[in-house]
Amino acid sequence: MTALANVADVLEQIRKVRQIRQYRPDAVPEAVVWQVLEVARWTGSSRNTQPWHFIVIDDREILRQLSQLRPPIAWLAGAPLGIAIVLDGQSEISEAYDEGRVTERLLIAAKLLGLGGGVAWYGDAAQQAEAKRILGIPQERTARSIVAIGYPLSARDPRPSPVQRGRKPLAELVSWNRYGQRRQATPDGSDS
Ligand SMILES: Cc1cc2nc3c(=O)[nH]c(=O)nc-3n(C[C@H](O)[C@H](O)[C@H](O)COP(=O)(O)O)c2cc1C
Repeated sequence: MTALANVADVLEQIRKVRQIRQYRPDAVPEAVVWQVLEVARWTGSSRNTQPWHFIVIDDREILRQLSQLRPPIAWLAGAPLGIAIVLDGQSEISEAYDEGRVTERLLIAAKLLGLGGGVAWYGDAAQQAEAKRILGIPQERTARSIVAIGYPLSARDPRPSPVQRGRKPLAELVSWNRYGQRRQATPDGSDS
């Protein structure tokens, strides 16, 4: 395996993956969308079931309709593209885990390609049913989220009640050997 010459840069980029909710109007080139999807396709899943299907949405009207499902995802109307995740609907817990994994790969691939991404959840069962209706997804499938992708305008959360930024320090998150057992030399970590 070839060692990455710029591994520190790649790690830094991955560390900086953030939720982007404001995008430039520029379209995402189709070739770039396929690159992102190729990374997503190789995501590991429970028993390699690969329980996902992706709906690429570059029709602004459809994104606008989805954005109206609930106020915390209104920003979706300003995204040039979204990748809606559809799951087989066979195994609730493992598919929820798999959905998280594939979502993160979409976000990381987008970031490494100079784009940004943002997760939007449709909401409760009725809102999910409405999203399925909008997207023509059979009701027996699971569909609860879409990943917006585009060129970032800002990483700011423009919503009236923004989510708190930043992360907990490693000292709060990590034990060694036994729960609660800390190492003195825990790195501080960066706050941005
Ligand atoms: C399961 C899940 C659902 C999310 N749903 C939404 C959502 O509906 N709307 C939204 O704006 N952000 C949503 N987010 C994004 C989170 O708010 C975001 O990941 C978190 O605030 C960290 O953002 P940051 O990386 O920019 O600091 C969701 C994230 C996850 C993991």
